[in-house]
Amino acid sequence: MITPDQLRRKYLDFFKSKNHAVISGKSLIPENDPTVLFTTAGMHPLVPYLLGEPHPAGARLVDYQKCVRTGDIDEVGDPSHLTCFEMLGNWSLGDYFKKESIAYSWEFLTSPAWLGLDPRRLSVTVFKGDENAPRDDESAAHWKAQGVPEDRIAYLPASDNWWAAGPTGPCGPDTEIFYWTADGLPPPGSNKGTDSANWMEIWNNVFMEYNRVDEKTLVKLPKQNVDTGMGLERTIAVLNGKSSVYLTESFQPIIAAIEAVSGYRYGGDPAKDSSVRIIADHVRSSTMILGDHKGVSPGNVGAGYVLRRLIRRAVRHGKKLGVEGSFLGKPAAVVVDLLSGAYPELSDNRERVMSELLREEEKFLETLQKGEHEFEKMLPNLLKNPQKIMSGRLAFKLYDTYGFPIELTLELAAENGMTVNREEFDEAFRKHQELSRAGAEGTFKGGLADQSEATTRYHTATHLLHKALRMVLGDHVAQKGSNITAERLRFDFSHPAPMTPEEVQRVQDIVNEQIGRDLPVTMAVMPLEEAKSSGAMALFGEKYEAMVKVYTMGDFSKEVCGGPHVERTGLLGKFVIQKEQSSSAGVRRIRAVLE
Ligand code: SER
Repeated sequence: MITPDQLRRKYLDFFKSKNHAVISGKSLIPENDPTVLFTTAGMHPLVPYLLGEPHPAGARLVDYQKCVRTGDIDEVGDPSHLTCFEMLGNWSLGDYFKKESIAYSWEFLTSPAWLGLDPRRLSVTVFKGDENAPRDDESAAHWKAQGVPEDRIAYLPASDNWWAAGPTGPCGPDTEIFYWTADGLPPPGSNKGTDSANWMEIWNNVFMEYNRVDEKTLVKLPKQNVDTGMGLERTIAVLNGKSSVYLTESFQPIIAAIEAVSGYRYGGDPAKDSSVRIIADHVRSSTMILGDHKGVSPGNVGAGYVLRRLIRRAVRHGKKLGVEGSFLGKPAAVVVDLLSGAYPELSDNRERVMSELLREEEKFLETLQKGEHEFEKMLPNLLKNPQKIMSGRLAFKLYDTYGFPIELTLELAAENGMTVNREEFDEAFRKHQELSRAGAEGTFKGGLADQSEATTRYHTATHLLHKALRMVLGDHVAQKGSNITAERLRFDFSHPAPMTPEEVQRVQDIVNEQIGRDLPVTMAVMPLEEAKSSGAMALFGEKYEAMVKVYTMGDFSKEVCGGPHVERTGLLGKFVIQKEQSSSAGVRRIRAVLE
């Protein structure tokens, strides 16, 4: 048996032996990226480097990264979908390309010194070619050179073998590696193209040599990069001969805790088993989100809304298992224990995880009680409708008046053989302006991919603002968050009181002075300790590599940062603070534009 800790270690060790620098994974909440709520892939924090920024640790990198993807939240409950997963990744930033990438993957998977998987149970897919790029015969040839027979190579279209983080950003053809999960050996001729059910994807090697600028424009990147991602939970399942991620060590202890609190024994009833899996997945994701360095709290917008949905759905499925009252604390404690070795921030934030979970659970249990009661009151009338359709107006009333989520109304309706007029509900929901934002669950639209000139200017302005705030308000000012679009910047920082109009004016003047001085913006790579002792500002609570990039703006500001930035402050235009307001206790928020 191999444990997740052992697999992470082996992966890092293997790539270290191939001269990769081990970098640390990042927060689940991306910095400076307004297009997405969570880190959705291992490559996400590396987007700027894939687009050409030099990485301080070099051109060969390896790490493990916690990820949250809620796009398939409705699939969770089946044996393989997860909302939170770990990705093992290795990157080449303009160093090696297809040949070495494929050779490394094959060696790691099949060599008895590493994972020792039976090569006869592996198959691959490569890009079939289309108007954007030719068929990837090169990758196929490299696979054959490793001994992969022709009939284990499937040539598939872009929908399978072209990986893009989103509608814009770095992208390219990929080659994916699959493991045969059925009994015995796969029959001759079998591959992902002929039998998609029994082949499970475990690793994806993307050859990122393009940047999608917009829907119509694909440009070649200055360098040919490799971005690979191996799903840790799935690989553990494969290595330990388990047919489902839920049967592995990553989940069994969580499931045992759910069994203990519910009294239900996993394996008895398919519908209840699905509820157990949903709870196990959601409590794991919620714990990871609450225990992240940049702790998010349940709320009605953005990442907080996703978190709220995860917790509430887990609670609802707990009720299906017959649990009364709050129960997520026990399985959450197991998650903290299981994952703190790899993610020490979880044990640092243990108290926070427990108290936030409990508070949200209790709040929701009250909501549920009221909502279900109202639904039951409506039910006799609803059942009289011969088409068995519940009006969207009623569903919205449950939502609006009682806070009863539409997902739960849909489930209750389905349980009673009904559907809900979703269009009508959506229409009512849209009109409900503030909450329409709450539904805007982000999908990864390209990471910091929106690296237009405009966002880069705002990024540089943020550094000037950060420094100016410290000059005017004092050294207690620390960055708490930053969110940049092409239209504005938003900057959160610690400060106990509202700023006076004079302070706001002074900060704005200082920033404009520095823009007027047209300071050069320069970058240097140095050890983190040296950066700190040279007086560079660094974000408290952020994880840094041993070697970091420091951006200096003339004699004015010095900050540890991944970039990118414009070359001179004179390019920024006029800086105007539009608003200074409270963000949360002890944290203020500034919204500013460049005119
Ligand atoms: N970016 C690719 C993925 O997420 C490989 O890391 O699958």
